[in-house]
Amino acid sequence: MPVVVDPDPMVVETLLAAMPAGAHGVESVDRLNAWLNSHSDEYVVLLGPTLTDGEAVLTCETLRTNAPTISTILARESLDGELLAAAMRAGARDVVHHSDAASITEALNRAYELYVALRGPAGAIHMSKVIAVFSPKGGVGKTTISVNLALALTEKGARRVCLVDLDLAFGDVAITMQLFPTHSIEQAIGSEDALDIEMLDQLLTRHQDSLMVLAAPPHPDTRERVTPLLVSRIIRTLRETFDYVVIDTAPAFDEQVLTALDETDEVVLVTTLDVPTLKNVKVAVETFDALHIARDNRHLVLNRADDEVGINADKVEGILGMPVDAQIVSSLDIAAATNAGSPVIVSDPEHQLSAVIRQLATDLAGEMVGGTDQLTTQSEAEAKSRRSRRRK
Ligand SMILES: Nc1ncnc2c1ncn2[C@@H]1O[C@H](COP(=O)(O)OP(=O)(O)OP(=O)(O)O)[C@@H](O)[C@H]1O
Ligand SMILES: [Mg+2]
Repeated sequence: MPVVVDPDPMVVETLLAAMPAGAHGVESVDRLNAWLNSHSDEYVVLLGPTLTDGEAVLTCETLRTNAPTISTILARESLDGELLAAAMRAGARDVVHHSDAASITEALNRAYELYVALRGPAGAIHMSKVIAVFSPKGGVGKTTISVNLALALTEKGARRVCLVDLDLAFGDVAITMQLFPTHSIEQAIGSEDALDIEMLDQLLTRHQDSLMVLAAPPHPDTRERVTPLLVSRIIRTLRETFDYVVIDTAPAFDEQVLTALDETDEVVLVTTLDVPTLKNVKVAVETFDALHIARDNRHLVLNRADDEVGINADKVEGILGMPVDAQIVSSLDIAAATNAGSPVIVSDPEHQLSAVIRQLATDLAGEMVGGTDQLTTQSEAEAKSRRSRRRK
């Protein structure tokens, strides 16, 4: 996926908006190097306009020798001949004006084509989406939404969905789906460097052919031993084979959840109508800014939206500075479905929650669900992703 480097968060935000979902932003060349060290499959780096010409050219030069399969693109405020010559000498693949989204897109596509050519036809990457369901508050409906969303994606035609329970201390995805896992993420502990899909496959619990679950450990103290590196490797490994990876999270910004948010393409942020929750959700939104999660990739869900507590959806939008994308009513059926281990979307397809979650699945999946050819080249899929984002 493309990586953008620029010290100005606003610039990073703007550049990321012109890029495919999953593009990542960092604020310095040092952070870029750290990122590339742990993400060996990156293929293009976009150097933003706030970096000096000297710094940008030097970075191209360094990457040309240290990571020759990574293309570098310079996004500059002005394009003079001297800079172009220096950039080309340093091995830059393209130099574009920073506000010319079409040229940026073309440059990214060229970089990807080169990458596929270098890796050979087998290097075409399986396109998938990672969706994290998050709230800094407990009990607001994260697990309910994650489980129903994963099922909605399969309903819509996704053939391979994996639901990951990253509420490592108190995960309850399995019980909510009446599953009895024999393995969990616990058996992957210590395998940071040896992890592959064959190994992970052994740890998954089957819900139905199209939906697998990576369960949380049975004991809360195991959480400490699940390192952020392991979390990142698990997500990256799963996204190589699954069409969608849905991640249920713990109600905290712990290091495992932060790592998952860093790896995610789309975040579903869940809130209810109480002031303490809204206060914490506001902090979460600020953290998303710091993590450079683009606004287009954030989806706010208001749960228990009809509670008469003196705050309504308009007020929530004002407080959080973002639109409410979906509203779920309070309903005893939802709590009863959790207790019965039978998700609402299956037990009551006509329920308001079922309709809302189906629509959310459509919004998140864009054009990629239900296609007959899920294994597509990244440039095709990225172009699709950009087209669907522009329509929003
Ligand atoms: N709209 C709703 N109406 C009625 N009950 C709901 C609704 N949404 C969630 N619940 C119930 O509230 C309880 C908590 O929901 P859930 O487990 O999904 O929250 P959570 O955010 O995952 O909690 P935790 O932070 O503890 O993991 C469950 O029993 C669920 O059935
Ligand atoms: Mg939960």
